[in-house]
Amino acid sequence: MIPTPHIDLEDQNLIAKTVLMPGDPLRAKYIADNFLTKVVQINNVRNMWGFTGYYGKKKVTVMGSGMGMPSIGIYSYELFNFYGVENIIRIGSCGAYSEDLNLYDVVLVEQAFSESSYAKTMGVSSRKILPANKTLNNKIKKAAEKLNIPLHPSIVHSSDVFYRLNFEEYKLIHEKYGANAVEMESFALFANAKALKKRAACLLTVSDSLVTHEATTSQERQEAFTKMMEVALNSI
Ligand code: HPA
Repeated sequence: MIPTPHIDLEDQNLIAKTVLMPGDPLRAKYIADNFLTKVVQINNVRNMWGFTGYYGKKKVTVMGSGMGMPSIGIYSYELFNFYGVENIIRIGSCGAYSEDLNLYDVVLVEQAFSESSYAKTMGVSSRKILPANKTLNNKIKKAAEKLNIPLHPSIVHSSDVFYRLNFEEYKLIHEKYGANAVEMESFALFANAKALKKRAACLLTVSDSLVTHEATTSQERQEAFTKMMEVALNSI
């Protein structure tokens, strides 16, 4: 059933088996422009740009996911279910819940905790914690080792709310569920992978800290993002 409502592409072969998904479609363009060769644009519906190209000899697609679980839920479902995608690696940013995480650290998500009803509503799981795919995570760990980039394997909190009124509640989530950082997408991505028997993983760069209230500038984020992207690209 292609094209889908959100990806206007007739030819399934133009999408690689592995897709890297930053939240921001401009980041997808940045990756395509700076790291890939033989690039073709595969989507522009809602400006949710996607590109397929080659990283060395490896065919890869990069496409924005948008922010939040409903958005990544839609795009990852369509890629997995209608375009033959086998692996999705989200590459995003997160806020630190733990003093052990510093700005620009690269987090490898091992499990995502969420209050979200996404997995339950979908009918895939009533669990509050879903795992990343171990095979993908092992490949990511190997790539990071080779590049000498330290990873911080973590449980993350996939939150529905960015501007939580009582932001101090992060402490409870940190204590109760062991979540070291917060972002807004992994749980839905992992739920879709489980529902469709596909593989999903997530790398995050720490962009702010709820503990120390430090934050990064957009220029600094861009540079730190490059490290994480190299890990993701070299893992495929
Ligand atoms: N909250 C939610 N998502 C995020 C944050 C945050 O503080 N930082 C980066 N992504």
